[in-house]
Amino acid sequence: MADVPGRQDTAASITHLVRLLRDAPKLPPELRLLDLCTGTGCIPLLFRHELYAGRDDVELRALGVDISDKALHLAHWNTERAHRNTAYARKGQVQLIKADVLINPYADAVAGPLPLKAALNHNGLPTHWDILISNPPYISPSEYWKTTTRSVRGYEPKLALVPPSQPDKNDTQLGDMFYPRLISIARDVEAKIALLEIADLAQALRVAQLARKRGIFDGIEIWREDPGPTTGAATDHNGFPVCGEGNARSVVCWRGLGALWLGKANAVAEQDDAWRLFQSYPGSLFLTLQSELLTSLKP
Ligand SMILES: C[S@@+](CC[C@H](N)C(=O)[O-])C[C@H]1O[C@@H](n2cnc3c(N)ncnc32)[C@H](O)[C@@H]1O
Repeated sequence: MADVPGRQDTAASITHLVRLLRDAPKLPPELRLLDLCTGTGCIPLLFRHELYAGRDDVELRALGVDISDKALHLAHWNTERAHRNTAYARKGQVQLIKADVLINPYADAVAGPLPLKAALNHNGLPTHWDILISNPPYISPSEYWKTTTRSVRGYEPKLALVPPSQPDKNDTQLGDMFYPRLISIARDVEAKIALLEIADLAQALRVAQLARKRGIFDGIEIWREDPGPTTGAATDHNGFPVCGEGNARSVVCWRGLGALWLGKANAVAEQDDAWRLFQSYPGSLFLTLQSELLTSLKP
């Protein structure tokens, strides 16, 4: 059965991630969290709560992004309510902006909401973010009719569950539509950890494969509903560790310092990481050859 957004296991992945970060060495003084498709804003609010419950030596800067005015209205309301009622709400900051994360960030002119890059610029926000989280619409059109209950269909806007239709894509590709863009954004904002929520193991493996192809991550694993350390050891699926118990729920990727933060390494080669990131941009090979040529032509 496909789940409604904001489910308990989203909370479990976020809580697990933040608990790892509570013990992390070398966190920056300002830790930046980008939550794409934020909906009610529950992910940044939970992240902040969990982080400050365990450490107070970092300033959290969290940004929730959504295309829907209704969702953003609700997220603002939740943020204000948390500000009044919860212990850690006065620490760090949670901001919200409207943007379309699916459209080409380099598009010149757009009729609807701005692409993410332009929205960040427009709002004077940073271009680099340490951690990217997203629980995007990931249900394919056929799964929507087969597996969601009538109450979910009646209550949740379809925009929150099913990616928009595109004539050149099959049902599976439609369900997966956000992930290539989210992985590109993770690269563009130079995220050190990306946690992407998915529907099931089959989708997790497709997303993990996409992330691997991008060639910028040091490690990729799949977390189940209960990814906690006390649950069973990881099993291997197509070369990806699958951790915890229950159904597969998120794909977690890390690079550079992210490996330290998640306890996956004791030291990282930051130069190698920066070079890999540079090379992942289309045209970077051309730029490299060009700069080598210029160097060789110097008198
Ligand atoms: C599954 S809900 C996520 C809710 C929230 N992250 C959570 O865990 O409860 C997906 C969200 O994606 C938003 N969304 C859909 N298309 C989008 C787009 N192109 N750009 C940004 N947000 C989008 C929807 O408005 C909805 O709030």
